[in-house]
Amino acid sequence: MKSHVTAALVGCGGIARSQHLPNLARSKSIRLKTVCDVNAAAAEAAQRDYAVPQMATDMADVLADPEIELVVVATKEDFQVPLTCRALEAGRHVYVEKPLAATPAECARVIAAQARHDKLVHVGFNRRFAPACRDAARIINRHGGATNIFARISDAYWDWGRGQPPGVRVIHEVCHVFDLLRWLTGADAESIYCACARPDDEIYTLKFKSGCVATIMNSGRVTWDLPKERLEIVTREPGAVLIEEFVELRAYGWLDEPPVTTYAGHTQPGGEFTHKHLFEKLGAPALEAFRRMRWEMRLRAEAGKTEAGDPELDKFMRESFPHVNYLVDKGWRAALEHTADCMLGRATFDGAGPADALAASQLAEAAIRSRESGEVVRL
Ligand SMILES: NC(=O)c1ccc[n+]([C@@H]2O[C@H](COP(=O)([O-])OP(=O)(O)OC[C@H]3O[C@@H](n4cnc5c(N)ncnc54)[C@H](O)[C@@H]3O)[C@@H](O)[C@H]2O)c1
Repeated sequence: MKSHVTAALVGCGGIARSQHLPNLARSKSIRLKTVCDVNAAAAEAAQRDYAVPQMATDMADVLADPEIELVVVATKEDFQVPLTCRALEAGRHVYVEKPLAATPAECARVIAAQARHDKLVHVGFNRRFAPACRDAARIINRHGGATNIFARISDAYWDWGRGQPPGVRVIHEVCHVFDLLRWLTGADAESIYCACARPDDEIYTLKFKSGCVATIMNSGRVTWDLPKERLEIVTREPGAVLIEEFVELRAYGWLDEPPVTTYAGHTQPGGEFTHKHLFEKLGAPALEAFRRMRWEMRLRAEAGKTEAGDPELDKFMRESFPHVNYLVDKGWRAALEHTADCMLGRATFDGAGPADALAASQLAEAAIRSRESGEVVRL
């Protein structure tokens, strides 16, 4: 039986360097043969740093190689649909980053292309594969399903986000939460309402066809020391589950569920051990301490001081720990491995496909319409 698939990575920017390259490089099920980026320097750096056999600046060269079976697309939503469709037309399976596209109509193009070519399209809603979310889903399903959810996704909005038109965070970031809530409730949303305090600082209330209601707090205007994501879920049988930034799950109301479960951090080759160990042992307090430390160092760096005042320590800090948003395990690595397992016949596809990307995109579009009209939008 085949033991691995051969892949190419298209787009060697932020998410590729922080997740896909390190995760592909140590995968036993995926052999990364080619890296491709229109920016030759980015492709060369990825090839050099991860000892990848080939590099390209044109997707055509990737698709001309008959050995490539899987194309991982991590460009930006303006190119992800055309690149995914090209890969499908060339008979390749695809793992493509979220948001698949900026509009529902674009997402629908991938649904049509997949129907024509019958290949796997896994959209990078990786939180479905986060160990904490897997455990939460199991607990919720065992206790009658979710009836009431609160989700926070908050961030010191990154430089790229600030360069975008105000209010697009719902497309780029909240799409993760839309998908996660659909997955956790097993249902589509029937309505959404948006109340906006200022651009990229708003709430959405949703009602799902399962009867579950949800509130999402979305803010791009907090600081790095606040953990980015939190979920609180009430179940039909009396009880609740709370997830703090993927490192700690607390279960309330059941004697047969552990009250606290902690999860190791996301690991990076060569720089992984301290935070992984501490998150596993201590959960949320360890994450809070790491975030606080990185935030204070960043403030000092912005004030013109070196991060720790010591070049050796600075270098250690920069090279040893991922960005705060990549310290925890949000399922990136497991999502890629699942793609390979499906291609190798070891698993049945359980991730998000283009129809899920379409549903998330429709929710983002409806949220924007509600923000503009002040009305509840029915889907
Ligand atoms: N799943 C997650 O948690 C997560 C986290 C961060 C980003 N993302 C998503 O990943 C995608 C990429 O984000 P990023 O931050 O890495 O962006 P980025 O701008 O840092 O990198 C994109 C790279 O793609 C290259 N590129 C653009 N068009 C190309 C083309 N036609 N062919 C080949 N290369 C091309 C660019 O030169 C750049 O190097 C976005 O859709 C983003 O939303 C997902």
